[in-house]
Amino acid sequence: MVNAAQCITVLGAMLPSLALAQDNQTYVNYSSQAQPDLFPETLATFNLSFPDCDNGPLKNKLVCSSSADYVERAEALVSLFTLEELINNTQNSGPGVPRLGLPPYQVWSEALHGLDRANVATSGDKWTWATSFPMPILSTAALNRTLINQIASIIATQARAFSNVGRYGLDGYAPNINGFRTPLWGRGQETPGEDAGFLSASYAYEYITGLQGGVDPDHLKIAATAKHFAGYDLESWGGNSRLGFDAIITQQDLSEYYTPQFLAASRYAKARSVMCSYNSVNGVPSCSNSFFLQTLLRDSWDFTEYGYVSSDCDAVYNVFNPHGYASNESAAAADALRAGTDIDCGQTFPWYLNESFIEGSITRGEVERSLVRFYSNLVKLGYFDGNQSEYRHLEWDDVVTTDAWNISYEAAVEGIVLLKNEKNFLPLSKNTRSIALIGPWANATTQLQGNYYGTPPYLISPLQAAIDADYVVNYALGTNISDTSTAGFADALAAAKRSDVVIYLGGIDNTIEAEGLDRMNITWPGNQLELIRQLGESGKPLVVLQMGGGQVDSSSLKKNSKVDALLWGGYPGQSGGRAIFDILSGKRAPAGRLVSTQYPAEYATQFPATDMNLRPNGASNPGQTYIWYTGQPVYEFGYGLFYTKFEETVHRSLLSSSFDISDIFTAPRPAGYEHGELVPFLNFTATIKNTGHTASPYSAMLFANTSNAGAAPYPNKWLVGFDRLATIEPGQSVNLVIPVPIGAMARVDENGNKIVYPGDYQLALNVERSIVVDVRLTGDAVTIEHWPREKQEIESD
Ligand SMILES: *[C@@H]1O[C@H](CO)[C@@H](O)[C@H](O)[C@H]1NC(C)=O
Ligand SMILES: *[C@@H]1O[C@H](CO)[C@@H](O)[C@H](O)[C@H]1NC(C)=O
Ligand SMILES: *[C@@H]1O[C@H](CO)[C@@H](O)[C@H](O)[C@H]1NC(C)=O
Ligand SMILES: *[C@@H]1O[C@H](CO)[C@@H](O)[C@H](O)[C@H]1NC(C)=O
Ligand SMILES: *[C@@H]1O[C@H](CO)[C@@H](O)[C@H](O)[C@H]1NC(C)=O
Ligand SMILES: *[C@@H]1O[C@H](CO)[C@@H](O)[C@H](O)[C@H]1NC(C)=O
Ligand SMILES: *[C@@H]1O[C@H](CO)[C@@H](O)[C@H](O)[C@H]1NC(C)=O
Ligand SMILES: *[C@@H]1O[C@H](CO)[C@@H](O)[C@H](O)[C@H]1NC(C)=O
Ligand SMILES: *[C@@H]1O[C@H](CO)[C@@H](O)[C@H](O)[C@H]1NC(C)=O
Ligand SMILES: *[C@@H]1O[C@H](CO)[C@@H](O)[C@H](O)[C@H]1NC(C)=O
Ligand SMILES: *[C@@H]1O[C@H](CO)[C@@H](O)[C@H](O)[C@H]1NC(C)=O
Ligand SMILES: *[C@@H]1O[C@H](CO)[C@@H](O)[C@H](O)[C@H]1NC(C)=O
Repeated sequence: MVNAAQCITVLGAMLPSLALAQDNQTYVNYSSQAQPDLFPETLATFNLSFPDCDNGPLKNKLVCSSSADYVERAEALVSLFTLEELINNTQNSGPGVPRLGLPPYQVWSEALHGLDRANVATSGDKWTWATSFPMPILSTAALNRTLINQIASIIATQARAFSNVGRYGLDGYAPNINGFRTPLWGRGQETPGEDAGFLSASYAYEYITGLQGGVDPDHLKIAATAKHFAGYDLESWGGNSRLGFDAIITQQDLSEYYTPQFLAASRYAKARSVMCSYNSVNGVPSCSNSFFLQTLLRDSWDFTEYGYVSSDCDAVYNVFNPHGYASNESAAAADALRAGTDIDCGQTFPWYLNESFIEGSITRGEVERSLVRFYSNLVKLGYFDGNQSEYRHLEWDDVVTTDAWNISYEAAVEGIVLLKNEKNFLPLSKNTRSIALIGPWANATTQLQGNYYGTPPYLISPLQAAIDADYVVNYALGTNISDTSTAGFADALAAAKRSDVVIYLGGIDNTIEAEGLDRMNITWPGNQLELIRQLGESGKPLVVLQMGGGQVDSSSLKKNSKVDALLWGGYPGQSGGRAIFDILSGKRAPAGRLVSTQYPAEYATQFPATDMNLRPNGASNPGQTYIWYTGQPVYEFGYGLFYTKFEETVHRSLLSSSFDISDIFTAPRPAGYEHGELVPFLNFTATIKNTGHTASPYSAMLFANTSNAGAAPYPNKWLVGFDRLATIEPGQSVNLVIPVPIGAMARVDENGNKIVYPGDYQLALNVERSIVVDVRLTGDAVTIEHWPREKQEIESD
């Protein structure tokens, strides 16, 4: 099968006429070009409106009857469509059905960290902006579940307000929950980091329930689309385009790393939608992959029965070119539809399903099935319920009000990570009058937003924030992100000479890591390190902010005694500059922790990023993510310092605990726990005392490790819990309680089954292992999740 597919790819490549690109008259090799050429029809912005159920042609139809079952309402609507009308509405830019008064609908709205692809007004005093939160990689570093939920909830409120005036849809293509496996990935910035099993799954749960307005609520707020399912974490590494990449992944890694966050999105958070990815896995493109879309999602993970699958934009076309899994567009459309892709973000469904139908490869029933799934969500979203529906009262004032809560600022402050602080140099002394503000992020504005951003109400640059904080600011660019010219160094060094303290803000940004753009190394780009070195020689105290979503190797800064402090600031969003300066000045105290490993530079060139195997192979692959990496990180996953000292003491009851596994699973489930694997079998409880002199929040990660439970090789450790505590005053003690779900202790066998094994485990607090508790699990192993056999219903054609 794989060979046949490869053979067709080659044929396709040789015949330009077969490979006519999306909106392109010249031959494009999508095996190497990472960006699709989308048709204007796919990219269209509509003036959206709601169907008129009071006076329009649908008024007496069941779909307009608010009291009827939502699926029956959708079925009744879809039964009114002709085949052509059905096919026309299988795309993201659905034209609706004019004769039925069903208006056009745009499925493609983005909600990664604020509204994007909203139809924002360019004049007037309303609808001109929406809140721009930090990129998810930074917000997640706060380790605050409530924060993630609140961000998504605010985005949903603002989305609804925009939607009510036709400027946004009722669903959002978010969250992006692929694991940030390789530090080279250009879109790692969009994700909650590299711990796919626990942290990404928790993030997915909070974000999706925040967007949707709860767990499977009667009135959906915004339908969330969990993306990109699955095995997608490369854009363009070494000329391998995401559009054509075939990820070779073992069933063990698929179950352990590449899909648990999608299971959580589906089973626990009840995401209404999932997006299939561009890439193939083991020879089968995700959007034509029945093992993914039917066997895993619907048959194994309780995907909400009438949830729908949307393709990534033009991924249905890519089933044909460049994957060559199908030999033409109509075959690609039929394969994708039959595998379980319901909506094509693209034009292949609407333009070719008619042909597939004539060829006899699809039925009207199969198209109806997809549209019933899609429209039942619009029904649940109140699309057909007129002005009385749940969220129709939201308006511009709600956008203004939710923005004024300053949660974007809060998320940035909570997420920033302190990596180095020699002799407690930070917070800046109150006597600091003048600062030299240097580097390609010093006056960052749009850079603060990363990617997938809309128009924010304002962008507070670090420069602006420094001025607002009444420092005498000597600003100099010094150098650009990737510059090799030293022309700006003299100004920067002169600024340093005139100032009490030097603050350098640089690292990477979306010129280096972006959609369609991976890095080939993780060194600091350009001559930034050389400038920082020279600034260090100026004799002035030096603080460095390493910005951007992916990590760069800062080992030289870690070692350099002239660098007094180092922080990671991600993409901090609309109030990013203020958040940074409030941390530097001590107005707020840092408590973020890295959610991705900072590897040494050689890691990135040691083995190909296309090697999807997590476990070390004894040769070039040293193991991927903190769970399997056998080398020495520069700053490890979970690293983060405070401005104060904390003393952690374990509660006595926890010392040497032993549990019988079958007792855990046969015990009555506490109220509120529908799923046995989520029930905590132990509360990790400790007293956290602030023994320093600075008030500070506290954050915690709890890791498990074992060397005898289940089969070797054993991971270094893995995350089983995390939490953040609000500000603790000096001298004050607070209880930390981290519930550990029994499912979090499971390991994955070679067939992909998740199993809780008997054996000896340790639970260790944070990377310092300041508390280590021995836990023994006894009795027989219990399988908590059977991984089905990988089998395809849709053959390559
Ligand atoms: C087709 O795509 C290629 C490569 O992206 C681009 O250079 C060319 O301008 C495109 N042609 C048209 C007609 O869009
Ligand atoms: C298309 O790109 C792939 C990956 O870079 C390469 O292997 C292949 O030779 C290219 N095909 C053509 C026809 O250029
Ligand atoms: C949307 O509405 C605006 C203002 O009413 C109008 O200028 C624009 O042409 C409309 N766009 C479409 C696609 O109908
Ligand atoms: C379907 O879409 C095509 C292309 O946009 C359009 O020409 C046609 O009129 C539509 N058909 C119906 C029945 O809406
Ligand atoms: C598309 O491919 C399918 C499967 O190979 C084939 O049956 C069909 O005839 C092709 N259609 C066209 C228009 O070439
Ligand atoms: C299928 O629909 C497309 C778009 O409406 C149209 O261009 C094409 O001619 C149709 N094909 C057939 C076989 O009817
Ligand atoms: C619903 O509200 C819109 C906007 O306020 C208004 O134009 C429309 O007349 C209302 N429709 C009904 C049926 O009340
Ligand atoms: C909210 O943030 C803005 C800009 O960062 C600031 O001007 C305002 O004072 C903040 N409001 C509160 C209540 O913190
Ligand atoms: C900082 O950036 C803003 C927005 O891009 C620009 O208007 C301003 O001139 C810049 N300030 C300096 C000192 O370069
Ligand atoms: C690292 O990659 C960047 C592009 O991301 C490139 O410009 C630079 O030359 C590379 N540096 C080294 C040392 O290979
Ligand atoms: C953990 O603590 C919660 C509340 O603090 C309690 O309801 C629960 O029973 C405890 N679980 C275990 C396993 O001790
Ligand atoms: C977590 O975030 C919520 C919501 O933004 C906030 O109210 C709370 O104070 C934060 N918790 C901690 C411990 O910082």
